[in-house]
Amino acid sequence: MIIKTVEFVKSAVKPSQYPEYDYPEIAFAGRSNVGKSSLINALIQRRDMVKTSAKPGCTQLINFFVINEALSFVDLPGYGYAKVSKTIRAQWQPMVNLYLSQRHSLLGLVLLIDIRRDPEKEELEMVQWLEDHKLPYLIILTKADKLSKTQQQKRQLSISAQLGREKDAVILFSSKTKQGRDTIIEEIDTLIGWNNE
Ligand code: GTP
Ligand code: MG
Repeated sequence: MIIKTVEFVKSAVKPSQYPEYDYPEIAFAGRSNVGKSSLINALIQRRDMVKTSAKPGCTQLINFFVINEALSFVDLPGYGYAKVSKTIRAQWQPMVNLYLSQRHSLLGLVLLIDIRRDPEKEELEMVQWLEDHKLPYLIILTKADKLSKTQQQKRQLSISAQLGREKDAVILFSSKTKQGRDTIIEEIDTLIGWNNE
């Protein structure tokens, strides 16, 4: 896939606010601060298209982007950040659950895990949900630049084993060095059936 155009469409909380287009859609999910918005920026090669922040809890709404007038990327708000207000935390789960269960054009999910953290209940539950619903997904280990190459390999082996997957089924990524970007683009192409373009 060559990214020619990127357009921010809208933010939404509930299904009635989702855009009505039916482009194939890929959603990005993971713990707050894991690097979801940074990954989307790296994929679309726009430094600041999606707002990122060192402070967790930056993305609080469901944000829709259209790529090449043909594909939709969705930046989901992050979970698991204790310091956002109780109201926001209470809204997160229904907001994301509704999205995952109701969005008919959702073709696949990209689940991000910080390479330095072991998968926790939220990640294991998400993987189980994806398996149960037969929704294709990619697992990305973010912030790989924080570790040496040897440590990266060790973490890739350990995290993939904890998720019951092959080592290469989890992709090492860094938004700083762009390590893994091309692999993720290829995997997304495969997921949506565009690998011939
Ligand atoms: P929420 O919107 O709060 O859920 O966070 P998010 O998952 O969208 O994370 P975001 O992309 O805003 O990144 C959070 C912080 O981590 C920012 O300070 C980023 O610069 C930093 N960050 C993201 N990806 C990487 C990476 O690959 N390497 C390093 N070193 N820092 C990163
Ligand atoms: Mg974000």
